[in-house]
Amino acid sequence: MSNPIPPHGATRLKPLFVEDADERRALLREAETLPAVTVASAAASNAVMLGGGYFTPLDGFMDKADALSVGRSMHTAGGLFWPTPVLNLVHDAGAAEAGARIALRDPNVDGAPVLAIQEVTGVETFSEAELDGLTAQVYGTTDPAHPGVADFRAQGRVALAGPVRVLNFSYFETDFPETFRTAVSIRQEIAERGWRRVVAFQTRNPMHRAHEELCRMAMERLEADGVVIHMLLGKLKPGDIPAPVRDATIRKMVELYFPPNSAMITGYGFDMLYAGPREAVLHAIFRQNMGASHFIVGRDHAGVGDYYEPFEAQEIFDEIPGDALRIELFKADHTAWSKKLNKVVMMREAPGHTKEDFVLLSGTAVREMLGKGIAPPPEFSRPEVAQILIDHYRGRD
Ligand code: ADX
Repeated sequence: MSNPIPPHGATRLKPLFVEDADERRALLREAETLPAVTVASAAASNAVMLGGGYFTPLDGFMDKADALSVGRSMHTAGGLFWPTPVLNLVHDAGAAEAGARIALRDPNVDGAPVLAIQEVTGVETFSEAELDGLTAQVYGTTDPAHPGVADFRAQGRVALAGPVRVLNFSYFETDFPETFRTAVSIRQEIAERGWRRVVAFQTRNPMHRAHEELCRMAMERLEADGVVIHMLLGKLKPGDIPAPVRDATIRKMVELYFPPNSAMITGYGFDMLYAGPREAVLHAIFRQNMGASHFIVGRDHAGVGDYYEPFEAQEIFDEIPGDALRIELFKADHTAWSKKLNKVVMMREAPGHTKEDFVLLSGTAVREMLGKGIAPPPEFSRPEVAQILIDHYRGRD
């Protein structure tokens, strides 16, 4: 059965991974003869996303005009709806010049093997002022203490634009053989399962009760065939829980608390931007590309610190053109355990409650408890999930 949700801006997915093994080997041989650039981790993760079809219909890295246009208007210079720049930024272009083919080397794998071949169509330098403007538009701040801003501004000012052919999926396939998935394979599995209404859930955290119930509420209310839990496997800011640990908590939660065949556990290889609203829109695009019909956006989606208002990542969707996306949002209010109702609820749907009627714990408080070997209350975390997290913190001592 074909999937009713078309990819973004295209009739077919456009994975830039070279599927044919012979062609891939030939390109890898060619790559050894090409000028090489070891790219930033962000560019490597862009290549992985391009490879897997998540960034359909892009065919490679943006040039300055596209990036600046996306920053300003969420459209490329050619009019494609796109919320964040997809750049290969370097400090020094080296031998890369317009017209050259270059090998992109992977900074995240020992020996920096070739990740992709890029056909360079442009080498352009951003001015500081241009980067300041772009940073403010995408991240809503230029504060260097913002982890996404810090990473972006550390990448260099020279943009290497042009199409790529992706030759592997970096460390994601080897480190997360069960969980790492391309948009192509998720779309295919959704079709094989015969799912038509499919909720996607973005996460970069272990899943606590609020996350779990959010998925359940979305599935019930949307009468969905299933949920695709889609976790970020790329780089996070220090202090966030490593992907293998999050993966283990999610697998345990699904095994114990979800009906069989209702949840797919999957992940994608992208570094977190922490760009709040703009990243939420990007998230929606790649969930559309992987074939989901609905996408959950809750409280402080893709946020960090207090850079964004709690529901800014939902409000941005009210400002985009109505026909920009085909995926539909499931906008969730703050969910928490109600001591009065003895269940997790959306707070706006709990009449007669005050803050004290909910079990609310800050991330810092939860980390402190787990670090001391104390499980958060079962209203907040499933005990089996808490145990995995306690073991993780204990292992770090
Ligand atoms: S995120 O950076 O990936 O957004 P996280 O994994 O914590 O962080 O959140 C995943 C999704 O669940 C996001 O859509 C987020 O808005 C939502 N979410 C997390 N916790 C809550 C909560 N208590 N109430 C409502 N939504 C939440």
